[in-house]
Amino acid sequence: MEWTGVNELRERFLKFFESKGHTILPSAPLVPKDDASLLLINSGMAPLKKYFMGLETPPNKRVTTCQKCIRTPDIERVGKTARHGTYFEMLGNFSFGDYFKKDATRWAWEFITQDLKLPVDRLWVTIYLDDDEAYKIWTEEVGVAPERIVRLGKEDNFWEIGSGPCGPCSEIYFDRGEKYSCGKPTCGVGCDCDRYVEFWNLVFTQFDSDGNGNYTPLEHPNIDTGMGLERIACIMQGVENLFEVDTVANIMQHVCDIAGVKYKAGDEKIDVSLRVITDHIRSTTMMIGDGVVPSNEGRGYVLRRLLRRAARHGRLLGIHEPFLYQVCQTVIKENATAYPQLVENKDYIVKVIQMEEERFAKTIDQGMELLNSIMDRIETEAAKDQHRVMSGEIAFKLYDTFGFPLDLTREIVAEHAIEINEEEFKRFMDEQRERARAARAALGDMGWEGDVVSTLPGKTEFVGYEQMECDATITGIVVDNQLVDAVSEGEKAIIVLDRTPFYAESGGQCGDMGVIISGKCMFKVLDCKKSATGHFMLIG
Ligand code: ALA
Repeated sequence: MEWTGVNELRERFLKFFESKGHTILPSAPLVPKDDASLLLINSGMAPLKKYFMGLETPPNKRVTTCQKCIRTPDIERVGKTARHGTYFEMLGNFSFGDYFKKDATRWAWEFITQDLKLPVDRLWVTIYLDDDEAYKIWTEEVGVAPERIVRLGKEDNFWEIGSGPCGPCSEIYFDRGEKYSCGKPTCGVGCDCDRYVEFWNLVFTQFDSDGNGNYTPLEHPNIDTGMGLERIACIMQGVENLFEVDTVANIMQHVCDIAGVKYKAGDEKIDVSLRVITDHIRSTTMMIGDGVVPSNEGRGYVLRRLLRRAARHGRLLGIHEPFLYQVCQTVIKENATAYPQLVENKDYIVKVIQMEEERFAKTIDQGMELLNSIMDRIETEAAKDQHRVMSGEIAFKLYDTFGFPLDLTREIVAEHAIEINEEEFKRFMDEQRERARAARAALGDMGWEGDVVSTLPGKTEFVGYEQMECDATITGIVVDNQLVDAVSEGEKAIIVLDRTPFYAESGGQCGDMGVIISGKCMFKVLDCKKSATGHFMLIG
């Protein structure tokens, strides 16, 4: 086997399956379409569910993809170990009622042993407990030695998510050698240590599950396979983990250059921060490229949390200026061939990251100062072995005033064995929501949304009786009830001008709609309201 780069591996896989009659489809965006069950796409099959379930006809019964994926359940562990990451790409070949077990297994083996030339004596295969059909195919058709096949249970070798198409699977493992073994006498395929890495999962989707343990055989079984691109790259490049494969290492090098540090130079804390930043800048660049914008909810919150966690680790490395927006340019460069849209949207992606960094930079130092002093106090006051708890009020202040997502605060205090009183935090959140609701209700039709607008100087001159358009100067931009310098595409904001022709909603009449144009930017105004202080709020 020969050293092969990530970009070349992706290409080789897709071309191989194209030569087996598959249509190459581009990766779907990370934001699922028509699938409310998922926040972000997390596997190659997720955007193809409609074909598996027969809701739509695929362009071909054989399809192959390299799918961008995000998985965040292990986010706290990302960085601390070299194994975890939130972003990865999954290579897959799919059959929608066309070929089944035999071809899926044969082609998988052909690709890895003949195309990639992985040494057969390092490969192992697992099958589902009673899947004798798979055993027969692996041993008789493909020629794998029977002692290299391990039967594993439902936990490892049966793929299902909720109800719907599911089935037993067969996984291919690579033996990295004795030196990676945990040394336990039981160490073997399926062991949790670093010796045997699972890199390709072949799912034989042959049942329809009702979600209650009843499995009906499908008339036309399907194939869904998933091979981690970074995992196979580790094997092909002879490196230990995803942070060391070519494209990812180049991203980390950029962080090292900015921070003036080296990876694996003996300081574990530095290594953790470098891994956090490298992983998170990959996932966030991809998310923004697919239309996610930072916010306090849903996907936007996942994005904000990742960016702010990375920003904090930047501080730990001694970087005091926004820098993620620079590193994201290396992410774009490394992915330019597979995802040309990233290059097209580069300015936008860079801007969104820079704005989010600048917004957080204004408060992170004060927030950390507050947090450190509170943690010091808790640590001094707490007796040894005593349960250490930080009040929910402080966590709320960090969230509300200093922009610390709760998860970030939780993670920082956990490093000092402190817990947050989350019930109290929730009470403060609920109270805040209630106050905001009551304030809006009290203002009735003249209600206005941005408390901070009232702090702006002057008021807006209304020129709408004579003019339909006019030149004006922006006196304030408000996002999430905070004054900001700029607003990015897709973000909801309020703009206040020194003068305006927009009529503001009052006494039953609707506010005007229209646009504000400045240079190459356009802001769509969907509503206009007037604050008690005489500022016209153009909402859009
Ligand atoms: N859907 C299977 C997985 O994600 C291939 O492992």
